[in-house]
Amino acid sequence: MSKTVETTPFQNQKMGTAGIRQKVQIVKQKNYIENFIQSLFNAIGGVEGQSFVLGGDGRYLNDIAIQTIIKMAAANGMKKLIIGQNGMLSTPASSHILLKYHLDGGLTLSASHNPGGENGDFGIKYATNSGGQCSSAISERIYQQTKQITSYKIEDVEDIDLSKIGTQKLGNMEIEVIDPVKDYLFMMEEIFDFEAIKKLFQSGFTFVFDAMNAVTGPYAIQIFEEVLGAPKGSVHQAVPMPDFGGLHPDPNLKYAKHLVDLMYSDHAPDFAAANDGDGDRNMILGKKFFVSPSDSLAILTDNYHFIPAYKNGISGVAKSAATSTAVKRVAENLHINYFEVPTGWKNFCNLMDSNRITFCGEESFGTGSSHIREKDGIWAVLFWLNIIAATGKSVEQITRDFWKKYGRTYYLRYDFDGIDTAVADQMMRDLENNLTSFVGQTFNGYTVKEAYPFVYKDPVDGLETKNGLLVYFDGGARICFRLSGTGTNGATLRVYIESYDQNDFDKNSEHELQNLLQVAFKLAKITEFTGKTQPDLTT
Ligand code: G1P
Ligand code: ZN
Repeated sequence: MSKTVETTPFQNQKMGTAGIRQKVQIVKQKNYIENFIQSLFNAIGGVEGQSFVLGGDGRYLNDIAIQTIIKMAAANGMKKLIIGQNGMLSTPASSHILLKYHLDGGLTLSASHNPGGENGDFGIKYATNSGGQCSSAISERIYQQTKQITSYKIEDVEDIDLSKIGTQKLGNMEIEVIDPVKDYLFMMEEIFDFEAIKKLFQSGFTFVFDAMNAVTGPYAIQIFEEVLGAPKGSVHQAVPMPDFGGLHPDPNLKYAKHLVDLMYSDHAPDFAAANDGDGDRNMILGKKFFVSPSDSLAILTDNYHFIPAYKNGISGVAKSAATSTAVKRVAENLHINYFEVPTGWKNFCNLMDSNRITFCGEESFGTGSSHIREKDGIWAVLFWLNIIAATGKSVEQITRDFWKKYGRTYYLRYDFDGIDTAVADQMMRDLENNLTSFVGQTFNGYTVKEAYPFVYKDPVDGLETKNGLLVYFDGGARICFRLSGTGTNGATLRVYIESYDQNDFDKNSEHELQNLLQVAFKLAKITEFTGKTQPDLTT
C-alpha cells in the first residue's frame, strides 16, 4: 500500500529561528509538505524503527498536514507515532512527551505566534531526542536535501481517525492517540505548589487567562479552572480555531490589546496572562500593570525558592543576547551560572542538558526551565501564581520589590517590517563595518563604551554562532540590532534598546528610550536604507 511519488524540489524550504515557516498559500502547493518531510527523514538517515511525537496548534492546514505526515512516517518504516487527540499538542507538551517517553524525535505543526487561517502562516518544527529543536547543522542538512529531492514515500490509505484516545495500526506502524493535557498536567503538579495556588483561588483571587483561540485553551481550562479551582469563565478565548478567530496569537501589548485594555480598566482582575498560538510564549499583567518579559525572567529567577521543584537550588540562568540585562544582576547576586546566547530557544538546550542552567528566557515573551527543552507559557503563569500564593503580594508589588533590590531596566524592542532582504543585509553589513568607529563617540548624550558583533561559542559543542550587533553605552544603556529569522515577508530589523536606573522606577519606557531610539536610527542609518522614520511595532 506504500507508494513512491516523484517530485521536484522547492527552493524555499530553509528553516529559520524555529523550524520552517511559510505562507499557507505556499505550503498548499502540491508536494510542498511531502518534500519537506521526506527531506527531513532523509537528512536524519531515515526513520525506520523510530518513535516520534506529532501534534500541532490546530491552525489552518494542521489537519491535512498531520494526515500526510502520518502516512509518510508509516511508509518510511517508522515504528510508532504518539499523536495528540485531534492532532493537537502544544509545543511545551510535545517536548515533554518526547523526553518522558524517550522518543527519537518530534514534529510540531505550528508557525507559533504568526497569524493562522487561509491567508496566514503555517510551519513545522522538528525536535530531536534531546527534546529541543534541531541544531542549525541538522536544519542545514535538511535544507540541502530539499534542494535535491526527487521522490517521497507515502501510504495510499484513507485518513486516520484522531478523535479517539487509544492505539491503532497503520501497516506496521503503531499510532497512539493521547490526551494532550494529561501528562503535561502531571508534570506541572510535580513542579508547583498546587495546594497553595488552590487556596489563592479559594480566597477570591481573580484571574483571566487568554488562550487567544489557540492551542492552550483546553490546557488552561483543565489546569486553572478544573484542577486549581479558578472560577468558570476565567479562561477566555478557550476554543482553538484554525484562524485563531482572526487574532494574531502573539501575547504582547499590540496583539493582545483586548487583554491589556481589560487590565487597565476598572474591572480588571488581580492577574491576567496570555499565551501564543502553540503555547510557548506568555504575557503577564497585574491590575493596571504590565511586566516586561525580560523583567519576568529576572523576577522568576530571583524568586525560585518559592517553587517546590527548585527550592534546593538552581544551577544558572541564560538569556538571549537581545534580552535585557536585568537577569544578569540577579545571577550575580545569587552566585549562579549566567550565559548569553543567540536568539532562538535551541541555543539554551546544551546548557540545560549539561546542567549549566535551570532557567532561561527571551525578551520575546518566552520563559522556561530545564523541565523541558522549549519555552513554556503555562509554566510561566503557574510560576507567577505560585509566587503570588506564597508571598501574598500582587504582580505590581512583586515587580516593584524587584526594582528596589536591583534597579529597573527600561527596555523595548522596535521592529521594522517588510524590508527588502538585500537592503536589510546591506544595512547590517554597513553597521557592522562601522561599529568600532563608534567607540568613544557621544550620540544624544550617550557615549559608546563598546561595540561589537555578538558571537557565541557553545561551551558544550564548541560551535560558534554570530547573531546581532551590540552597542554598549556608559551608564548601562545598550542597543542590539539583529534581523529576524522567523518572518515570512521580506526582512524584519529588530532593534532592542535598554537603559538602567537605580532610583526612578516610574518613567514611561517609550519616553525614556526615545533618545536611544534616535541614536539607533543614526548608527544603522535606518531611514537612509529603509525610508522608514518610525518602527512598525514596539513591544
Ligand atoms: C523570534 C523571537 C525569538 C524566538 C523566535 C521563536 O525570532 O525574536 O526570541 O525564539 O521568534 O518564537 P526572530 O524572528 O527574532 O528570529
Ligand atoms: Zn510559540
